[in-house]
Amino acid sequence: MLETGAVELRHAPVLLAEVLAALDPQPGKIYIDCTLGRGGHARAIAAAAACRVIGIDRDPAALAAVRDLQTVHGQLGDIIEILAALSLPRVDGFLLDLGVSSPQLDDPARGFSFQREGPLDMRMDPTRGPTALELIRETDEANLADLIFELGEERLSRKIAHAIKAAEATLVTTLDLAALISRVVPFAEQRKSKIHCATRTFQALRIAVNGELDQLARFLAAVPDLLAPGGRCAVISFHSLEDRLVKQRFRDLAWTSSLPPALAAQVGERTEAVCEPITRKAVVASEAEIAGNPRARSARLRACERTAAPNLPSGAPPSSRH
Ligand SMILES: C[S@@+](CC[C@H](N)C(=O)[O-])C[C@H]1O[C@@H](n2cnc3c(N)ncnc32)[C@H](O)[C@@H]1O
Repeated sequence: MLETGAVELRHAPVLLAEVLAALDPQPGKIYIDCTLGRGGHARAIAAAAACRVIGIDRDPAALAAVRDLQTVHGQLGDIIEILAALSLPRVDGFLLDLGVSSPQLDDPARGFSFQREGPLDMRMDPTRGPTALELIRETDEANLADLIFELGEERLSRKIAHAIKAAEATLVTTLDLAALISRVVPFAEQRKSKIHCATRTFQALRIAVNGELDQLARFLAAVPDLLAPGGRCAVISFHSLEDRLVKQRFRDLAWTSSLPPALAAQVGERTEAVCEPITRKAVVASEAEIAGNPRARSARLRACERTAAPNLPSGAPPSSRH
């Protein structure tokens, strides 16, 4: 009993009150939780109003654990196809709570944790795609270094990539990789740092294995066409690379031309925002929430609301034109 309670506490949905305030669920409306996990947020949305809630997750284990909601196995980058298959041209709300869930992180067999011995897998969806070990073997040293630098923001990426490629034939488990990194990172640096020296490399590999930034970008591109007027989109991200994508996209959707309206219409620039921000700045967790759930420390929530304005294909701001 005690143990179950402790597990439930650890899996408490992050920024729950803030998510509900941002989405403001209404009776009769349709909400899609694109990162269902154990369904904490989704159930709270369903409890807040007599609405329809559908949960999507790429991890079959997550779907198997949530039996009381309508669920779909899929990835958020395929949201257009998923909603088409459900015959839902438009919905009233999206929630994304990105990254891995505690059950994924806690299961050594999934290979996400550098503190638990397991295979170097890291796939959120074990039914598809290369594992972290396969990715390491398929990537040359220079590209591996770039990947660790860009996705892990790891300054020692070249040294780490060199050591990984030199040892790849003997590299099998998460602990093999963690031990290898701790041999490469100077001891003085390890002592200075608040985080384990393998954290950034594991993050980089996980993001790459799961194509996380590409998934998010594809989802964000589709949002304005899939939200009904008044519909809302709320995204919780856990690292700056994701948060930057969300912030930029929401800013672009709120952009309007500074040209006089007649001229703007002539050149196809928007005179009305496609989405208005609900959160001016990223919403972060309170000290009280962080004390009970350390994962909440790096959470950033941003939300926007679809207006009735058309999503002009040529009406995008100059920053997002190619
Ligand atoms: C942080 S957990 C969500 C927790 C959930 N909000 C709750 O209250 O239990 C993230 C979940 O999203 C899933 N996920 C992450 N990226 C995804 C993607 N691109 N497509 C679909 N599911 C994804 C993961 O498999 C994981 O189960």
